[in-house]
Amino acid sequence: MHRRIIAPGALAAASLLLAIPASAAPLSPGAPGIGDPYYPAYGNGGYDVSHYDLRLTYQPATDELAGTATILAKTTQDLSSFDLDFLLDVSEVRVNGATASFTTSGEHELVVTPKNPLPKGTSVTVVVRYSGVPSTKSAYGFSTWHRTPDGAVAADEPEAAWWWFPSNDHPLDKATYDVSVAVPDGTQALSNGTLQSTTSRLGWTRYNWRSDKPQATYLATLAIGKFDVTTGTSEGGVPVVNAYSKDLGANDGAARASVERTGEIVDWLSGYFGPYPFSSAGGYVPNTTTGFALETQTRVYYSPRQFASGSNTSVVVHELAHQWYGDSVSLKGWKDIWLNEGFARYAQWLWSEHEDEGTAQELADYVYASHPADDAFWTVKPGDPGPDNQFDLAVYDRGALAVQALRGEVGDDAFFAVLKGWPQSHAYGNASVADFQRYAEQVSGKQLGALFDTWLFQPTKPAAPAARTASIARTSAAPAQPRSWKKIAATNDVHHGVDHGVPEE
Ligand code: ARG
Ligand code: ZN
Repeated sequence: MHRRIIAPGALAAASLLLAIPASAAPLSPGAPGIGDPYYPAYGNGGYDVSHYDLRLTYQPATDELAGTATILAKTTQDLSSFDLDFLLDVSEVRVNGATASFTTSGEHELVVTPKNPLPKGTSVTVVVRYSGVPSTKSAYGFSTWHRTPDGAVAADEPEAAWWWFPSNDHPLDKATYDVSVAVPDGTQALSNGTLQSTTSRLGWTRYNWRSDKPQATYLATLAIGKFDVTTGTSEGGVPVVNAYSKDLGANDGAARASVERTGEIVDWLSGYFGPYPFSSAGGYVPNTTTGFALETQTRVYYSPRQFASGSNTSVVVHELAHQWYGDSVSLKGWKDIWLNEGFARYAQWLWSEHEDEGTAQELADYVYASHPADDAFWTVKPGDPGPDNQFDLAVYDRGALAVQALRGEVGDDAFFAVLKGWPQSHAYGNASVADFQRYAEQVSGKQLGALFDTWLFQPTKPAAPAARTASIARTSAAPAQPRSWKKIAATNDVHHGVDHGVPEE
């Protein structure tokens, strides 16, 4: 809601006329969750963050993280208290300069009570001083803080922030970031965006990173360790910063052979999705034992195991596609995950076509045929998979089938207009599956309710779409086997859709 400046006289007259009570809504605590039915306690109510400034120190030998978070926010209701999502130990909180009282509650709530209540529309500066050993903290019995032999990594979805900074932890509240981390000389600290400067003193080197476009909390990343950093600029002009743990062993060559193609792939994706939305691109491969990748904004997280069979440009395409589908345009609720994973998977299919390893249509036919009607695969609804199936293979593969079904329904011209127009029409914002359907209907001039319902919201195998039936009829009863069928089968055989060809242990 916008505050208008009204002349005092006019305001007095309006008050007399309408007899508005001094306070319309009673002062109340901000909700402990932002209202996402998949994760009721994630995020918080009553305020909106515009910027996080994190000034931290990390000691790899002991996993001690300490520092200060300064959070710029605006209240969206009258507040007596508000929550932040956080797990480390807090020693002091200030709100607009004044010491505030605080306590913890639930699994990951830091409850802050300012000296004076905060009326709706107030600009608030919250300073949180904290320390702790992230690897000793858990919520709901799990931790997503990944220690490595030479440091640590914060990267996971949907929750990673609790272990390193206090936040309004939900994609609905995006903000810009300055992340400054001091580490012992010889160790590096990586984060999102652009390295503004490094400074050295007293045996510590401080790395100052800036992410200057709105960024969801789960897309903020921190990596500490010993890295080899490469820099460059894509042909299209996007600055690229990549980093490889010096300890990748036999996976080092394949990791570089894949991630060093970031600039080329960013430019290639721009042809489908429009201009790259951020001022930097790149990825990092720390020496973790994890098996997933994550589209951390501008600086993608990769697991070394993804490169255990040689180069894997497909995972690079997937994570870079998310920079448009997921990062610039973020979901409104976690049930909208298809907007991220369905399109990132579809980008891998387009890349396969580009690499002469099977067309998107061949891959769609193959995936469709490889899951018989009684396969549990079809019971997962990509449009509302539930929190337990958020990263199920079906969200990825049936999700991409839904994209291909849309393409068949509206035709290539409208389809590629949607693919490119969507990231621009919702750049740096949030959107839902319903918003996407409306947008595709508007661009194509077609009613798509039945198509979306069939492919995204029914727990059953859809009938083959007309276009596919026709193309199969032309060739044989069985769908054509793509040239790269072995590789594709391997990708689809993993238990989770997230692994992009690397089985989880
Ligand atoms: N968005 C990520 C990807 O598709 C999935 C990350 C899932 N998280 C996990 N811990 N496996 O690349
Ligand atoms: Zn993904």
